[in-house]
Amino acid sequence: MKITVTVNGTDHARVVEPRLLLIHFLRDDLGLTGSHWGCDTSNCGACVVWLDEAPVKSCTVLAVMADGRRVTTVEGLAAGGALDPVQEAFAECHGLQCGFCTPAMMMTARWLLDNNPDPTAAEVREAISGQVCRCTGYENIVRSVLRAAKQDSGAAGAVPWLRPGEGAAIGGVEGLPCFPGGLPHALGGPRGDHSPGEGTA
Ligand code: FES
Ligand code: FES
Repeated sequence: MKITVTVNGTDHARVVEPRLLLIHFLRDDLGLTGSHWGCDTSNCGACVVWLDEAPVKSCTVLAVMADGRRVTTVEGLAAGGALDPVQEAFAECHGLQCGFCTPAMMMTARWLLDNNPDPTAAEVREAISGQVCRCTGYENIVRSVLRAAKQDSGAAGAVPWLRPGEGAAIGGVEGLPCFPGGLPHALGGPRGDHSPGEGTA
């Protein structure tokens, strides 16, 4: 079937098999490997993207179901070369370890903050409850989202986000980026040689 999907603002016309999943269309046909394929059974949530304005697990959506619709992936988070506050907050608060869950976590986080600009920690946990992180224990993910909410509102500078001594432990302190060499692929940066903390495409 021929489909046309608008992905991160660009129209893509392709002929696809009716059984092709959206996650494979994004990764294999379009080369957008920021969205990850973890389980294929709708359990892990590593494949979350937006279909129009709503987060979906793209392993549960056929590519043909996206025909004529808009898809937003982690590669579309940074607008005009400027990182989204969610990307900045995940880097600053160390909201990732291996990075496998991170792109999808950030897509859900941006959706949450667009619909609930000042969430509680419990509301953040509920929003990401369908997504699994095997590394972080979720604490820094929640803090990252809350930090991004403050950045969105312009109040980030007033928000302490590291406990005493934690900056040295995680390799970053307030005002200094955790990734001075550039944003890793897991946070929406360009794909390059794999390095520790960069995540798996
Ligand atoms: Fe889609 Fe795991 S790959 S939920
Ligand atoms: Fe979440 Fe590794 S699975 S950072």
